[in-house]
Amino acid sequence: MATSTAPAVETAHDTFPINGTDYIELWVGNAKQSQLFYRAVLGFQLIAYRGPETGVRDRASYVLEQGKIRLVLTTPMGPEGEVADHVRLHGDGVRDMAFWVDDARDAYAKAIERGAVSVQEPTVLSDAHGSVVIAGIRTYGDTIHSIVERTNYRGPFLPGFRAADNPFHAEPVGLKYVDHCVGNVELGKMNHWVEFYSRVLGFYNLLSFDDKTISTEYSALMSKVMSNGNGRIKFPINEPAQGKKKSQIEEYLDFYRGPGVQHIAVATDDIVKTVRMLKARGLEFLSIPKTYYETVLDRVGTIDEDIAPLAELGILVDRDDEGYLLQIFTKPVQDRPTLFFEIIQRKGAKSFGAGNFKALFESLEREQELRGNL
Ligand code: FE2
Repeated sequence: MATSTAPAVETAHDTFPINGTDYIELWVGNAKQSQLFYRAVLGFQLIAYRGPETGVRDRASYVLEQGKIRLVLTTPMGPEGEVADHVRLHGDGVRDMAFWVDDARDAYAKAIERGAVSVQEPTVLSDAHGSVVIAGIRTYGDTIHSIVERTNYRGPFLPGFRAADNPFHAEPVGLKYVDHCVGNVELGKMNHWVEFYSRVLGFYNLLSFDDKTISTEYSALMSKVMSNGNGRIKFPINEPAQGKKKSQIEEYLDFYRGPGVQHIAVATDDIVKTVRMLKARGLEFLSIPKTYYETVLDRVGTIDEDIAPLAELGILVDRDDEGYLLQIFTKPVQDRPTLFFEIIQRKGAKSFGAGNFKALFESLEREQELRGNL
């Protein structure tokens, strides 16, 4: 059932080693309220804070953690400056997908040498807990990759942040790590960004999907998945393809006012438990027609899980040569139909659920139609 193509000859030749995702930072209109959503609903814990009380005048930031996932929510304290500009244009969205490296100066120098555009030269930040070296480069739209070296740091997050003292802890829902982050870019720009990740960061093209793989009557897209050498960073890049009506990617680009992060996929070891908890706390997911479950096992073969709870919760199943995966998608987590989350449980499969795209897109189109955007 594999409908994707995997390039046979390409291998990774990392420009610099990346240990994993250091953090994902969202710039939002009201971080004080957003952080409570991520804690009370998604089960993150507040671990650090920076803002006016710590001597930063123009913004406030909350650092949240669950498993190895670290989210930073930052909001502007007034109408001036880059955070306010970003929120006005894009709404709430991902600003930064930060890489954790062992040598930020070396990583930055190599990225710049290969054509990356600088956002921040390597800068040493220090406090009583030690020091961090941080640099930054641009990627698609107004999105950036910070490059973080924290070998000599023992504090709660970064220098200048204080440990959080709010005692509220909702039970974690079992989210473990960031599996992949998907970018939506403009028509005709996918290969530009694929080439960027290949040339500048030494990533390789893990999988490709064309508009014949991923299309419904109305909506179509093309996608290429870029991965670093150790596979800890995976970035699928989507661009819209011609369909009868407006594709989900075009809807995103219209409402985000340009390219940006479409979804963050987070991994769990027990998707039924995780999704049950999230639904009980009010998180909304895309719904899948019951007919999907009448034929899914014919398509994917035997799986360890009972089909009944998967059907009850709307969890999707797909298989590749190495195993299978379970996945589900939230509705957008802000009023603009832009960023959403995917919950994924991998049972050997290394792919992204291409076998589910049709069922999924039909569900997305129903939502798009309700918003009057199809
Ligand atoms: Fe995904």
